Amino acid sequence: MAQPVISATGLYTPPHSISNEELVESFNAYVEQFNKEHAADIAAGTVQPLEPSNAPFIEKASGIKARFVVNKDGILDPARMTPNIPERPDGEISVLAEMAVAAAQQAMERGGKTAQDIDAVLVAASNMQRAYPAMAVEVQDALGIEGFGFDINVACSSATFGIQTAADFIRAGHARAVLVVNPEICSGHLNFRDRDSHFIFGDVATAILIEDASTCTTPHPFEIVSTRLKTKFSNNIRNNFGFLNRAAPEGVDQPDKLFVQEGRKVFKEVVPMVSEMILTHLGDEGLEASALKRLWLHQANQGMNDMISKRVIGRDVTREEAPVILDTYANTSSAGSIIAFHKYSEDMAPGELGLICSFGAGYSAGSVIVRRAA
Ligand code: COA
Repeated sequence: MAQPVISATGLYTPPHSISNEELVESFNAYVEQFNKEHAADIAAGTVQPLEPSNAPFIEKASGIKARFVVNKDGILDPARMTPNIPERPDGEISVLAEMAVAAAQQAMERGGKTAQDIDAVLVAASNMQRAYPAMAVEVQDALGIEGFGFDINVACSSATFGIQTAADFIRAGHARAVLVVNPEICSGHLNFRDRDSHFIFGDVATAILIEDASTCTTPHPFEIVSTRLKTKFSNNIRNNFGFLNRAAPEGVDQPDKLFVQEGRKVFKEVVPMVSEMILTHLGDEGLEASALKRLWLHQANQGMNDMISKRVIGRDVTREEAPVILDTYANTSSAGSIIAFHKYSEDMAPGELGLICSFGAGYSAGSVIVRRAA
């Protein structure tokens, strides 16, 4: 019987970081300009003045201190407030695929695999750069991999859905090794003029190499013990961008074609959903929560993670038990739990168990129990 393992991971971090203070300075310059331009309407009561943002609020409400981005200048320009990522001709690799390839190459190198060893590429991420051809097929081509590739979009949960799909392919004998790649240019679908959410996201790409234990050459890979996926429809996190709604006339904002959320409702509804899912998953596997050495949770909000960890483990957990990366990366959608796993798994001892868990729009949630192999 095949035993799928995570034999290696890869991480591509964009070169530019924006601190909360830098982001707030540009946001507040935009607010000042807006209020000045609309002074008469504001005085007449026909337009609401905009409120300034605040760096200490952001850190307290979310745990985020900074975020990495593909382009910094465009985001911080108060007259623009959107990343400046020029379109590339069709003959050039697309930006999202380029990031995916960088992360994938690192995973392949760390896993001691060449293109000839891999049969499938899954690009599992929140926002694909285009409708088709699938990003995965472009990444597959750039890496020189035979076989097949396709895209998976389950928003912030995409990576765990990709892991289960890859593990099933390995068990069924449909692929010898699968690359699951999570490139996220979240700054491209974030409304930097929206005070409630302008601080939430960052850009990154992660990659996960999954293969059968029998072909794995890395010492002590992580066995995929069991996976569990769940979705439940909700409009509380939504992005209406799509091919049926073409760009608005010049200069007209279409905020609902960007990320929008009811953050409070998300917090209240997702925490119990995810905690119960993890506990049920562990119970079904005959495992006690105390058996988990580490939780690599989705990185959206520190308060949410603290509550989920506490409900699952039954007490407050340390940062060693539930590592935090959202302070420097912000929410990187599907990639968050994988960055945490990539950075904080090497010290796990053979036999120790951990849990990768993602959650987000859909609602969607995925839980992956892993064990460090002997
Ligand atoms: N600067 C200063 N004040 C701000 C602000 C900002 N940037 N944004 C909001 N505020 C204010 C609000 O106006 C509100 O003021 P009021 O109490 O006078 O009305 C107050 O701060 C609290 O706002 P609220 O939106 O309720 O904040 P919160 O504590 O719920 O935190 C989130 C906001 C978004 C960080 C939090 O709800 C969250 O992370 N939720 C989960 C989101 C999530 O996981 N999403 C998944 C995406 S994939």
